[in-house]
Amino acid sequence: MTGASPLPLRLESVGLSRSGKNVLKDVTTTFAVDPPKTVIIGPNGAGKSLLLQVCHGLISADTGIVDWATPQNARALSRAQAMVFQRPILFRRSAVANLILALKIAGFAKSEWRDRADGALERTGLSRHAATPARSLSFGEQQRLALARALVVEPKVLFLDEPTASLDPAAAHLVESLIDEAATSGVKIIMISHDLNQTRRLADEIIFMHRGRIKERAPADQFFTRPENDLAQAFINGELLWRRRRSIFDGALVDDETCSSEDFNKS
Ligand SMILES: Nc1ncnc2c1ncn2[C@@H]1O[C@H](COP(=O)(O)OP(=O)(O)OP(=O)(O)O)[C@@H](O)[C@H]1O
Ligand SMILES: [Mg+2]
Repeated sequence: MTGASPLPLRLESVGLSRSGKNVLKDVTTTFAVDPPKTVIIGPNGAGKSLLLQVCHGLISADTGIVDWATPQNARALSRAQAMVFQRPILFRRSAVANLILALKIAGFAKSEWRDRADGALERTGLSRHAATPARSLSFGEQQRLALARALVVEPKVLFLDEPTASLDPAAAHLVESLIDEAATSGVKIIMISHDLNQTRRLADEIIFMHRGRIKERAPADQFFTRPENDLAQAFINGELLWRRRRSIFDGALVDDETCSSEDFNKS
């Protein structure tokens, strides 16, 4: 679909709390068309998925500003972006009907629906599952269908929350190629990954998050060779650990916080 990119997306002092806990803290950053692929990394519970959902407009921040550059109405803005969730959410209909519905909602001409949907199924290796109920597909197939549904509407910005987490190596390779292809064709990719090898392969720049904050943002080469933040360094070395402490109240072991092995040794 044609239309201007709504980027850059600006976040200023964004805060979010859940169950009385601050889960995003003072997040200030900007996502522009360049570089094409931004990968967000960080330990479990760092706030990566919540940040992506705030950017995509699914969650409103409690404090701060989330602002797209190009003034657009809500409909145009929602058409310009797509998201693949950590757990795929598919409609209770066939694989191809999921894609056709997405095309219909995005306003594509009816005459194009079937060809575009078939093309997207082919690119994600799902042609033989066109008529299969989406929710009967294996988890990995559902994840690929979710990506097909996101790509088929030709978004300007694509948010991806661990899009290869459940995929076998061949499918993960296919998805990485599709992400690269989309980026080359001008789609801004903002993606979460737990796979550092994949991050090295795909990322142009890295955002490292820890406990609700962005701790470091850097070009990928620089991040992997000279990370500035100690926790980022520990994370890439596989040394960011869960500190476990014994609760003074009930003697139970509880997860306290993530820390580097150096901190861990000190405690
Ligand atoms: N509805 C909620 N109520 C309470 N806490 C929540 C809620 N939603 C999220 N959280 C907490 O917010 C924190 C950040 O969650 P988020 O899902 O963004 O983490 P993440 O970085 O994506 O982690 P993972 O790598 O495990 O996917 C977590 O500690 C999570 O438990
Ligand atoms: Mg997550």
